Amino acid sequence: MAELIPLRLGVNIDHVATVRNARGGAYPDPLRAAKIAEEAGADGITAHLREDRRHISDADIDGLMDVLSVPLNFEMAATDEMQKIALRHKPHAVCIVPEKREERTTEGGLEVARDENRLAHFIAPLRDAGCRVSIFIAAEMRQIEAANRIGAEVIELHTGAYCEAHADGLFEERDAELVRLCEMSNFAHSLGLEVHAGHGLTYDTVAPVAAIAEVRELNIGHFLIGEAIFLGLEPAIREMRTIMDEARK
Ligand code: PXP
Repeated sequence: MAELIPLRLGVNIDHVATVRNARGGAYPDPLRAAKIAEEAGADGITAHLREDRRHISDADIDGLMDVLSVPLNFEMAATDEMQKIALRHKPHAVCIVPEKREERTTEGGLEVARDENRLAHFIAPLRDAGCRVSIFIAAEMRQIEAANRIGAEVIELHTGAYCEAHADGLFEERDAELVRLCEMSNFAHSLGLEVHAGHGLTYDTVAPVAAIAEVRELNIGHFLIGEAIFLGLEPAIREMRTIMDEARK
C-alpha cells in the first residue's frame, strides 16, 4: 500500500470553449475560467486540443501558456501536428489520448499495447523537451505494462465505465469497476508509474476514486462546467475539492 500522498485536482476547461463556440466570438472565455479555477484551488488546468478544434483552439493554448500560474496538462492525440504544437509550447504535462472524429467525447483509453513502437518514438521527443508524458488508458494490466515499456512517466486511468455504471444504476458493475481501478492503480504504482484518473467524475462518484491511495491527480471537466451554471464556477470547484479532501482522509 502506498503512503497517503496529496491528491491534485486538474480542472478541464474544454467545455467553457464548447459554450463559446456554440455562438462564435469570445464569450465565455476559457482563460477567465482557468484563472477562476486556480483561485478555487485547482492544482492544474487541463485542455484538450482536438484535431477538429471543436472546443479548445490554438489561441486558447497560446493564452493558457501565457496566463497560468499552475501547470497546464495539454491533452492531445498522437499525431505529428499535435506533437509539433506541444514541442513549441513545452507544457508541464502532455496527456496522450485516443481521438475519433465521430465521438462525442474520449470514449475509451488508448490502445498502447498494439501500438507500442510508434508510441515509444512519439513520446520520446516530448520527454526530452521536459514534458511529463501521461497516457490515458483503460484500467487493464496489459495497457499499463505497455505504457511503462514505452517510457511514460504517468498513466491516467479512464473512469468512464465506473461512472456510467453508477449513472445507470448498475451498482454491482460499478463496484467491480472500482475494484479494478484500485487494483490497477496499485499495480501501476508498483511499476513506478504515477497514477492519475478521470472522465465522467461527479460529486456522487468522485469520493471512492479520490480514496485510492496511489492516485495522485484527478482530471475533471464536464460535470464542473455544468455545475457552474447552477453554483458558479468557483463554488462548484471548491465543493469538488472538499469531497476529494474528505475522501482522502
Ligand atoms: N481525462 C482525460 C484524459 C480526458 O480526455 C477528459 C475529457 O474527456 C477528462 C479527464 C475529463 O473528463 P470529464 O470532462 O468527463 O470530467
